[in-house]
Amino acid sequence: MYTPKTFNFGALDGISPKQLEVHVKLYEGYVKFLNTLDDTIVDLMKDSEKNAYALGEVNRRRGFEFDGMRMHEHYFAQWEGNASPISGNLEDALAKQYGSYEAWEAQFKAVGMTRGIGWAVLYYDPTGKRFHNAFLGDHEVGQLTGIPVILALDMWEHAYMVDYLPAEKKKYVDAFFKNLNGNVVEERFHGS
Ligand SMILES: [Fe+2]
Repeated sequence: MYTPKTFNFGALDGISPKQLEVHVKLYEGYVKFLNTLDDTIVDLMKDSEKNAYALGEVNRRRGFEFDGMRMHEHYFAQWEGNASPISGNLEDALAKQYGSYEAWEAQFKAVGMTRGIGWAVLYYDPTGKRFHNAFLGDHEVGQLTGIPVILALDMWEHAYMVDYLPAEKKKYVDAFFKNLNGNVVEERFHGS
């Protein structure tokens, strides 16, 4: 069983308390449904032959619910504590690979502007010693196997629709960066 995490947000600039409230509620839904799925699988396995179709559908949903849970935990944690820019070793390493920190940020924001719902994610591959900017469909489609998430930007409309119109999502992306606690992101890089 998983338990929803709680997050301590200060006053964010450009992201309202109402927006955070409805979004955290949605996150709690992923945790709840992941737990429900696991209970359902145990029940269906009592007659796996009869329940083969239902089992297949339930198993298919696990990645959506699990990644929906975990990606939101990455996302909300980035807004805890004081806002600060990405700096130190992470800034240097991004600048080295992308030419400048600004070049990386521009590319990451462009990934965020991809049409459709999903996530813009910065990963670091410790084996290849390279960063990857990736777009995920839903929460799980396109995840890069086995390498840590360094930065996660939710690009579902539910992430900003209380504060912004769909056509204004660039403003939401700017607000995301403005409120980012760079220390949280740097710690993920150091731990990778
Ligand atoms: Fe979300």
